[in-house]
Amino acid sequence: MTPEQSVYTMRLNRFLARSGVASRRKSDELIASGLVRVNGEVVDSLGASVDPERDSVEYAGQSVHLPKECEYIVLNKPAGYVVTRSDTHGRPTVFDLLGTQRLGTMPVGRLDMDTTGLLLWTDDGELAFRLLHPRYVVDKVYEAVVRGRPSEEKLHMLREGIELDDGPTAPAQAEVIRCEGSGYRMEAHVRLCIHEGRKRQVRRMLRTIGHPVRMLKRVSFAGLILEDLKEGAHRTLSIEETRALRTQVGL
Ligand code: URA
Repeated sequence: MTPEQSVYTMRLNRFLARSGVASRRKSDELIASGLVRVNGEVVDSLGASVDPERDSVEYAGQSVHLPKECEYIVLNKPAGYVVTRSDTHGRPTVFDLLGTQRLGTMPVGRLDMDTTGLLLWTDDGELAFRLLHPRYVVDKVYEAVVRGRPSEEKLHMLREGIELDDGPTAPAQAEVIRCEGSGYRMEAHVRLCIHEGRKRQVRRMLRTIGHPVRMLKRVSFAGLILEDLKEGAHRTLSIEETRALRTQVGL
């Protein structure tokens, strides 16, 4: 338990706080009152440090551990990759792009094979569950290139919610951000923010208003953005991004 034994030690009160036992100040009180043991011995000195990897810490007879460090990755998915671990048709999968990650690290939700853009991966199961749960109303922002230019009335239909074959959609934010070409060659770039995650939802919404999608990219998920990540590349989230992600779903 002495600092020289290890390359990584931390103060005992911090260890207890990070493990969820109590705040740092309260942990000091627990330590001083002799309720904390390290490697079987009571440690009541407030300056004590522990090596979380090697020392075993107990509070009131219960073993205490730091929470598992989770992995948080953003991938810029290219078109042509299926979001599945192994594809029955032998098509390339997003797992081919990420190489061998930790066993539990999985994509959070899906993108269609032809959709590009932001795909979050994590082994933080509670976070993944909450990000996909409708209760937490997480923003998913897409940019679609569609045939023709949707009128304000059509965009209004998306904003109100429209009827799809599996039920009405929740209100979405929808705007045309630019147009290219003219006449029957005109294409519009539409930015759509939805909170649901139904199968091919954006494609179906835009087809229903008469503007089939030619290209679809997810540009943001739960406030995360791709930044300058190239297609097929991935990056680990910063601590600030991870914290913001967890906070927005109450973790
Ligand atoms: N909506 C779609 O239509 N496709 C996706 O991949 C994601 C959302």
